[in-house]
Amino acid sequence: MTAPFYVQGAWFVGAALFIFGLKGMSSPASARRGIVIAGYGMLLAIAATFLIPGLQNIGLIALALVIGGGGAWISAQKVKMTDMPQMVAIYNGMGGGAAAAIAAVEFAKGDMHGLVATTLATLGALIGAVSFTGSCVAWAKLQGVLKKAYRLPAQNAVNVLLALISVGLGLAVIALAPQQPELVIAFFIVALVLGLIVTLPIGGADMPVVISLFNAFTGLAVGFEGYVLGNPALIIAGIVVGAAGTLLTQLMAKAMNRPISNILFTPLVASGPGEAIEGTMKELSALDAAAMMRYAGKVVIVPGYGMAVAHAQHKVWEMTSILEEAGVEVKFAIHPVAGRMPGHMNVLLAEAGVPYDKIFDLEEINGEFGQTDVALVIGANDVVNPSARTDKASPIYGMPILDADKAQNVIVIKRGKGTGYSGVENALFYTDNCRMLYGDAQPMAGEIIQHLKSMG
Ligand code: TAP
Repeated sequence: MTAPFYVQGAWFVGAALFIFGLKGMSSPASARRGIVIAGYGMLLAIAATFLIPGLQNIGLIALALVIGGGGAWISAQKVKMTDMPQMVAIYNGMGGGAAAAIAAVEFAKGDMHGLVATTLATLGALIGAVSFTGSCVAWAKLQGVLKKAYRLPAQNAVNVLLALISVGLGLAVIALAPQQPELVIAFFIVALVLGLIVTLPIGGADMPVVISLFNAFTGLAVGFEGYVLGNPALIIAGIVVGAAGTLLTQLMAKAMNRPISNILFTPLVASGPGEAIEGTMKELSALDAAAMMRYAGKVVIVPGYGMAVAHAQHKVWEMTSILEEAGVEVKFAIHPVAGRMPGHMNVLLAEAGVPYDKIFDLEEINGEFGQTDVALVIGANDVVNPSARTDKASPIYGMPILDADKAQNVIVIKRGKGTGYSGVENALFYTDNCRMLYGDAQPMAGEIIQHLKSMG
């Protein structure tokens, strides 16, 4: 069914709004507006679909919209900031599943014409199905439903074999469908299993990169199915999501200094014993930490994964405000892969009300650590590990880090001697200018606030 020009036009406008929305999302200051603009684009694209003359199953479509839209509305209201990655994973999986379902329906109807349409439908189905089951596993791992990484013997060989079988079945589907429904069913089953098998061995901490990769896959699948349905909004939105997802995956892999193939096929391990670390870890009290910051000229706060786990961002902002009132200059230094998802720290700090002009990227702030009196590292570890500069055996070797070690004094808040995501020791904690404040980030920030208040 070809849509009339006014519906096609509305879809184009919807797609243009997606692009404007995406542009807005490139800065925290305009991100909220960007989301709203893209939302209007989606609303327009959906509403225009109802104007297609002779559209059937309107009741069913409306019911699906109520269930999907209602579920998303309620869950998005409730989701905690730290649970965002799994929410993105499950929405992404739904997108991939929907793309695969479109292909399944078109195959079942048996009225797909032309080699290009059949090939794109099959490709979209393969990528969408892999993305669907893969994203479901990613969700289960991040949600803590699946606690282990399941690794088969000869895992990589199994992955390759399954991929080859699904591609072979896909080629057969292109050549023989729709006369062969069994073939189509077998193709879908293998593609769904492929997504499961590839994702199950990947550790929870690598999941954000994998989710971003599946996000790119889903975009591609949606774009292909958009061609099959003759829907420009789907094609453009799919291409935009595919391109954005690919760039994000590359950026994250680069910021972690790990090729994407390593993330998919190799667990994160050190390749050698690593450089011996000299010195001892030296403790200080919350009172001393408060005094050091209260009488400093400039403090740079480096938040990390531990701040997110402890939900300490509100306390950190309260502490910042007290220090600023006392005349201390306070800035926040954000590493591109601090936490467990892109922009994790920016989102948490924005939620706590920290103004954007106090938040600085790695390139912007690194030159300032030399003139900083106190660097307060709160729940961060790998992103301030100086071994990344020097230790070739370290899995984080080559990753750009925040130069907190160059500050006059460094205070590190963490619960104990736990390593970061990479599992390696942090040379910073043993340096002469570094002091450890052991405890959960939230109560520790609370204690510092109490001491700061009592100092007046
Ligand atoms: P991490 O290196 O993971 O270190 C976090 C530290 O926080 C741990 O050493 C832990 O030590 C401490 N911690 C945990 N819970 C805490 C709590 N409740 N209170 C206080 N401290 C707590 O974090 P990071 O520096 O943010 O680095 C991120 C790492 O994740 C990088 O290696 C990065 O490559 C990786 N990664 C990032 C992403 C994205 S996109 N951001 C995606 C995948 C992987 P204790 O146990 O001693 O408390």
